[in-house]
Amino acid sequence: MKAVILAGGMGTRLRPITYAMPKPLVPLVSKPMVMHIIDSLPNEVDTVVLAVSYMKEKLEEYFSSHDCGRKIVLVNEDQPLGTGGALKNVSSYLDDTFFAFNGDVLCSLDLNDMLKVHRARGGIGSIALWDVEDPTAFGVVGTTGDDRITVFQEKPKREEAASNSINAGVYIFEPEIFSHIGSGVVSLEREVFPKVLEKGLYAQRFSGYWVDCGTRDNYVKAQRILLERGSALVQGCTIDSSVIKGQNRLIGTQLEGCTVGPYVTTFPGCRIMKGAVVSNSMLMDNVVIEEGAVVKDSLIGPGYVVKRGEKVESNILA
Ligand code: GTP
Repeated sequence: MKAVILAGGMGTRLRPITYAMPKPLVPLVSKPMVMHIIDSLPNEVDTVVLAVSYMKEKLEEYFSSHDCGRKIVLVNEDQPLGTGGALKNVSSYLDDTFFAFNGDVLCSLDLNDMLKVHRARGGIGSIALWDVEDPTAFGVVGTTGDDRITVFQEKPKREEAASNSINAGVYIFEPEIFSHIGSGVVSLEREVFPKVLEKGLYAQRFSGYWVDCGTRDNYVKAQRILLERGSALVQGCTIDSSVIKGQNRLIGTQLEGCTVGPYVTTFPGCRIMKGAVVSNSMLMDNVVIEEGAVVKDSLIGPGYVVKRGEKVESNILA
């Protein structure tokens, strides 16, 4: 079986980090964002097709030097074709039921269960749905009582929203879907789904967690979830009279009389100096936090130096 991961977006909301690397490769706790999806795939998925465009060379480089235990095929778009166009562009690789994912999703959905239910229902596709309090910033989905999808709304007004269920960006499709995707730039959500409702598009609901990691706020939420679920670790660090609070993942970092945590991840070569305070943040390789600086709810790109006494809050710096 094959899975497609849409990995060609520009990741503008994670800039400036995504000026230097594509969003799927932005590290999230223990591995690049896209690897959280690849590692969660059912065993029967032997091939992953990555629909790439923005910074495809970086993705090629990563996958040629990392064995993911599955065949990885990168398919390029000369220009981003949108979620539907990107799927159509990889159609020659897909001649049977396949999974498809937005490349920035972290969730607790049981993919084996989703596949079983999809096969039993027999429609053209299944879409994972996640319930939120306020659906107005999302693609909203309305269903019948037996979870057959009847309506799609993109970012509806509160009073017009068909439900509180949103498209979680995880799909199973039959290859028949390709005959409903036009050429060029096409949006799955806006143009394709509304057209194929009568072919049997079903909802797969789940509980646990779901995060679209494409914004700073959501990224730190995803990081917190993973740390709370067992990814916390302190390894290869030198710790000099520092305070470490709560759950963190600190790797190869010098802690020199600072306060770190909760929910901080650091990557090798970081240095956090005397009196500095870091919480709910991610520091990529070789970041330096100088004396007395404060970093909160932020993502800091490789090699960045937060200057002495500087305060960084709810920001992305690179
Ligand atoms: P923003 O610029 O911050 O909105 O991020 P994005 O470009 O990644 O867009 P968005 O988060 O809406 O995309 C959801 C998923 O679809 C991500 O995994 C993107 O990589 C992917 N994606 C979006 N547009 C395209 C496209 O044109 N081609 C391909 N191959 N993937 C896309």
